Amino acid sequence: MSLLVAENLGIAFGGVKAVDGVSFCAEAGQVLSIIGPNGAGKTTLFNLVSGVYKAREGRIVLNGRDVTGLPPHRLAALGLSRSFQNLQVFTRMTARENVMVGRHLRERRSVIADLLRLPSSERQNRATRAAADDLLRFVRLDGAADTPAGALPYGALKRLEIARALASEPKVLLLDEPAAGCNAVETEEIDRLIREVADQGVAVVLVEHDMKLVMKISDRILVLDRGRPLAEGPPQEVRRNPAVIEAYLGPGHAREAAHA
Ligand SMILES: Nc1ncnc2c1ncn2[C@@H]1O[C@H](COP(=O)(O)OP(=O)(O)OP(=O)(O)O)[C@@H](O)[C@H]1O
Ligand SMILES: [Mg+2]
Repeated sequence: MSLLVAENLGIAFGGVKAVDGVSFCAEAGQVLSIIGPNGAGKTTLFNLVSGVYKAREGRIVLNGRDVTGLPPHRLAALGLSRSFQNLQVFTRMTARENVMVGRHLRERRSVIADLLRLPSSERQNRATRAAADDLLRFVRLDGAADTPAGALPYGALKRLEIARALASEPKVLLLDEPAAGCNAVETEEIDRLIREVADQGVAVVLVEHDMKLVMKISDRILVLDRGRPLAEGPPQEVRRNPAVIEAYLGPGHAREAAHA
């Protein structure tokens, strides 16, 4: 059974269909990439799937359960987490605190216990902190745990965003351009992280413009063009699809993709 099934999703803004009849399945342990030119509807699709926009057309099934129309925090509690194209880290909090915030969905906390500083609450705080530190180590930011996020370089912030998204222990992880603006070394690092997350059994859905990364990392690729699905399949197939080359990649990119 697919961990995430999106069926026939659609949404219009001011009469223009930003996403129109898009379906996909995300499988445990696999990376599905969603590619397409600027404005193709990739982020809008993520906003639909993660509940930021209410899907009025189509259906979303998470882990066998119909979750269409549920708000983001409910979806997060059910195992769907995402990163944002525009970073959503809290710049005045430390790296560790940012991850701890992402973790709170996972926890059954009692406000009373917190207020009274009961031992159970202290234990939980220690556990949350330890889990955050584990994630920071995972994204190679353990040296920056106490650094305010605002003081971290861009590449580190992109990894912090992934750690924050992982903190709720998602079964499905949506990553919106996790390597955008990163240099080759940073991109390589993010590539490795994504593969490791998938290898742990998470279904990863990736939006990414870096074709080299996409071709290398994806089990399957869905191509969108002006809100509509254009092609879907394994990387080798998609990169040779004439419609994709024509409509999206263009001759120069097609060569790049073929040699990736
Ligand atoms: N809230 C909104 N209101 C009106 N139009 C929107 C809104 N969100 C997205 N759009 C429009 O929907 C289309 C798809 O945008 P979207 O951001 O999903 O594209 P994208 O594929 O993520 O592009 P990029 O690669 O640049 O991130 C665009 O034409 C955009 O202008
Ligand atoms: Mg986008």
